[in-house]
Amino acid sequence: MKFFLTSILLTTIIVGITEFFAPIVLKELFLDYAFVLLIWIFFYRDLLQDRSINLHKNYIRTLYTLLLLGSSVTPFIIDKWGSSFSTVYMFTALTVLLLGKSSGRIVGFTLSFLTFTHFNRDVWILLSALLMTLISLRTLENVYRRSDVMRSAFYASITNLSVSILKYVVDGYTGRYELYIAAANPLVSSIFILGILPYMEYASRIYSNIGLMELGNLNHPLLKELSIKAPGTYQHSTMVANLSEAAADRIGANSLLARVASYYHDIGKMKRSSFFVENQFDEVNPHDEISPFLSHLILDEHVKYGRELARRYRLPIPIECVIAEHHGTRVQRYFYYKAKEVDQKVSEDDFRYPGPKPRFKESGIIMLADSVEAASRALKNHSHSQIKSTVENIVMGIFSERQLDSSGLTLEELELIIDEFTRVITTFHHRRVEYPKGEENE
Ligand SMILES: [Fe+2]
Ligand SMILES: [Fe+2]
Repeated sequence: MKFFLTSILLTTIIVGITEFFAPIVLKELFLDYAFVLLIWIFFYRDLLQDRSINLHKNYIRTLYTLLLLGSSVTPFIIDKWGSSFSTVYMFTALTVLLLGKSSGRIVGFTLSFLTFTHFNRDVWILLSALLMTLISLRTLENVYRRSDVMRSAFYASITNLSVSILKYVVDGYTGRYELYIAAANPLVSSIFILGILPYMEYASRIYSNIGLMELGNLNHPLLKELSIKAPGTYQHSTMVANLSEAAADRIGANSLLARVASYYHDIGKMKRSSFFVENQFDEVNPHDEISPFLSHLILDEHVKYGRELARRYRLPIPIECVIAEHHGTRVQRYFYYKAKEVDQKVSEDDFRYPGPKPRFKESGIIMLADSVEAASRALKNHSHSQIKSTVENIVMGIFSERQLDSSGLTLEELELIIDEFTRVITTFHHRRVEYPKGEENE
């Protein structure tokens, strides 16, 4: 019921806005309404299943913003300057880059049909708009470089030009500069897309892969500060990044997000770095001096402070989620048992991390990589079978604690992750066979 009400409300707003910017007769308006409503009903469920949409309200807000802007700007521009100036490619491409395919589909098809009914049901407009939508969906989902956007624009430009030539051949008429404009449109749009992306990323904290690449180049002030204030944590984070990137790649998740989020997952440890074992170089453990309850608060704080930094530096929303979720609601066992020695009545729940549990695959992988990395450092025996059984124990332990219930990771994927973690750690510990004396330079 809520689903239909939302669809009807959104359709009314979208069609209303389009009507305001490019008025049409009532009959066409009904057609508009029917098309947009159908698109929503058709693709809305798909959208709701998209994990990122449920992660934060900014995702749906950004989708609505792009949709409403698109349905006012596109008909307005076509009405004023003609169909070759259509902005369907620009809005669909922006949506796919920022929000992914399920959102891109809605924006692309909605704009295509809106412009179709608004301009005398011109099939050429519809054909060009649908092709622009399909090209955006096919070419822009997994882009990592600016040049990939340029390549997509180039395909769109060739396609748009072909449609215009076909129109000329069939109709025998085309506007004076229509062919040139049709070809230039996607190319100019791509310049605009690349120009506006950083602003949209900053405003929404939803990053395209291009934006994520920049955050992952280790030059970010937060990472530099981490490397100075908590060098052990910095080292740990880069190792977690290697593990989770490989595992995400293996199961077809976003390996770039997994790598970049791993770099930042423990930035909250900057505040009291010496309380974390990886930074205790002089073997003094300050936890020995304080009560386990205080230790618990300090451990919790690295999650809370990390989130605070993520918000302050406007890091992407999924990275803030990873910071919050990488310990899930797990129990800090060491301090729990220490407290139990003093007071028998303490419960496990008093020593849990605040959570929540991982809510998407990359976050689940980082939780696993985090524990696996810590355990692999303590390993004395680096044989393949020893590494494999340690990794297996940790992954299945976290799974049976039910920490991965909302992550979307399946058992088959966990098997692949175990395999990949084992491979990465084994490769890391692989030592070059020692040369016999005197042959080092050969
Ligand atoms: Fe942590
Ligand atoms: Fe960690």
